[in-house]
Amino acid sequence: MAEAALPSADKGAKISRREWLNYAWLASLGILLVDLAGIGYLFSMPRFKEGEFGGVFSLGQVSNLPPKKTPPVNFPKGRFWLVHTEQGVLALYKVCTHLGCLYGWNDQEGKFICPCHGSQFQYDGTYIRGPAPRSLDRFVVQVLDQDGNVLAETDPETGDPVPLPDDPNVIVKVDTGRKILGEPNA
Ligand code: FES
Repeated sequence: MAEAALPSADKGAKISRREWLNYAWLASLGILLVDLAGIGYLFSMPRFKEGEFGGVFSLGQVSNLPPKKTPPVNFPKGRFWLVHTEQGVLALYKVCTHLGCLYGWNDQEGKFICPCHGSQFQYDGTYIRGPAPRSLDRFVVQVLDQDGNVLAETDPETGDPVPLPDDPNVIVKVDTGRKILGEPNA
């Protein structure tokens, strides 16, 4: 009895046009998903590294910070002045709210003075006089425990100073990516 003819190897390897289109579609979908995952990963990463302007600056433990009412501390890399008022800590953006010059602290007069057009500001950044349209801008200050939990931070609505707890081990950070505009002049 004659054996039934088996399909040839060539014939078995062939794929139809429909199958080929399905494989191509699946490959495109896979590439798209990989791209989307990559974009999602990039967006989930902080835009600026810690210690780089636009990112977060760690000032260390509370015990490292200057006592209340002592002269402001200059943080050139973070572009802010740290002041410790009776009510708590503020990080004042170093750029004048008039036309963007860098103002400085005048120890004799006990205020910030801009060398360009003479705007003046109190220790806490409140406008005193000059062409500046508002008080100094502030960055968000955060107080964290040793596990990185945020215990307190600057209220973005008011920009009020952040009181420091008695615990000398809590950490203070300044987020230069979150700026709060100064109060407009009355
Ligand atoms: S830029 Fe500071 S007063 Fe004009």
